[in-house]
Amino acid sequence: MRRYATLLGTGGYLPETILTNAQIAETVDTSDAWIVERTGIRTRRIAAPHETASSMAERAARDALQAAGLEPEAIDLIIVGTGTPDRLFPSTACLLQQRLAIRQCAAFDVQAACSGFIFALSIADQYIRAGSARCVLVVGSELNSRIIDWSDRSTCVLFGDGAGAAVLGVAEEPGLLSTHIQSDGQYHDLLYVPNPAHGNEPPFLKMEGHEVFKVAVNTLGRIVDETLAANALTQADIDWLVPHQANIRIISATAKKLGLPMERVVVTIENQGNTSAASIPLALNEAIRDGRIQRGHTVLMEAFGAGFAWGSALLRY
Ligand code: UT7
Repeated sequence: MRRYATLLGTGGYLPETILTNAQIAETVDTSDAWIVERTGIRTRRIAAPHETASSMAERAARDALQAAGLEPEAIDLIIVGTGTPDRLFPSTACLLQQRLAIRQCAAFDVQAACSGFIFALSIADQYIRAGSARCVLVVGSELNSRIIDWSDRSTCVLFGDGAGAAVLGVAEEPGLLSTHIQSDGQYHDLLYVPNPAHGNEPPFLKMEGHEVFKVAVNTLGRIVDETLAANALTQADIDWLVPHQANIRIISATAKKLGLPMERVVVTIENQGNTSAASIPLALNEAIRDGRIQRGHTVLMEAFGAGFAWGSALLRY
């Protein structure tokens, strides 16, 4: 019997506090018009002081488990994609495991920045195909507001907090058709957060936005082609694009490359900003819950971020 990963349930969590462009414009030299035109973002969510990546991950995970109709004990592997872990170690996945009171399974984090969910999904897929796991909890959780320099207008308008989760199980028919991940460390200086234990740099996210933008658009265009070719599919076979939400202009360029109208693209950036590794599972969850993505639909997910690290996943839902 061949074994494939199938999506059993998704969940999401967004903190309550909404931060508008107008509020940011009170503290740095920016405007609602600039932010909307250059990024597509109007508002983003900001976590409360008591919240952490693991607490938000728990909310999203419980939501996904409920959607899957499963108890936490069913999980035999936990993978969390995060660039904003509660602690340098142990992993946020271990803290999530404790929160869910799951015993006797492996739990670890994946550090692939904004592509963390796709990388985690790819690992989960390998474990399930190999017969090494039967039920995998994959989470993207980010507390970006704590690594942002709120006086840097070129980055502070972009990011938001939140968590998204997916529960994967085993099936004889393919759900996850393929995953593709790649990295190129030569670009590591264009987008990074320093480790405060080393050197004198302030512990905030730094980005050469324009340079990142150019490579992102080209790379995502290429990976879309590679993903279709690997599955002998054409653009017409894709029902939904669920992209990482970094910039509406990057999303539109990828949709154009796919020949997909924007009605077939799940866009959450307007009211969530860039939630890094959480953006894809949050968008996937939203579109499944509101009925846009239905069983049998073919869904292309793609992400690009620091590293650079990028990837895609093709799902028959
Ligand atoms: O998720 C991980 C991957 N990240 C990304 O994919 C992000 C990719 N980059 C981007 O989305 C865009 O590059 C940004 C949204 C970050 C910036 O947009 P841009 O069109 O590339 O602007 P820019 O950096 O080239 O800056 C253009 C101008 C500059 O002013 P001058 O030098 O032309 O006078 C900036 O100083 O816009 C200025 N600027 C702002 N103005 C008002 C930069 N940030 C702001 C701001 N408000 N918040």
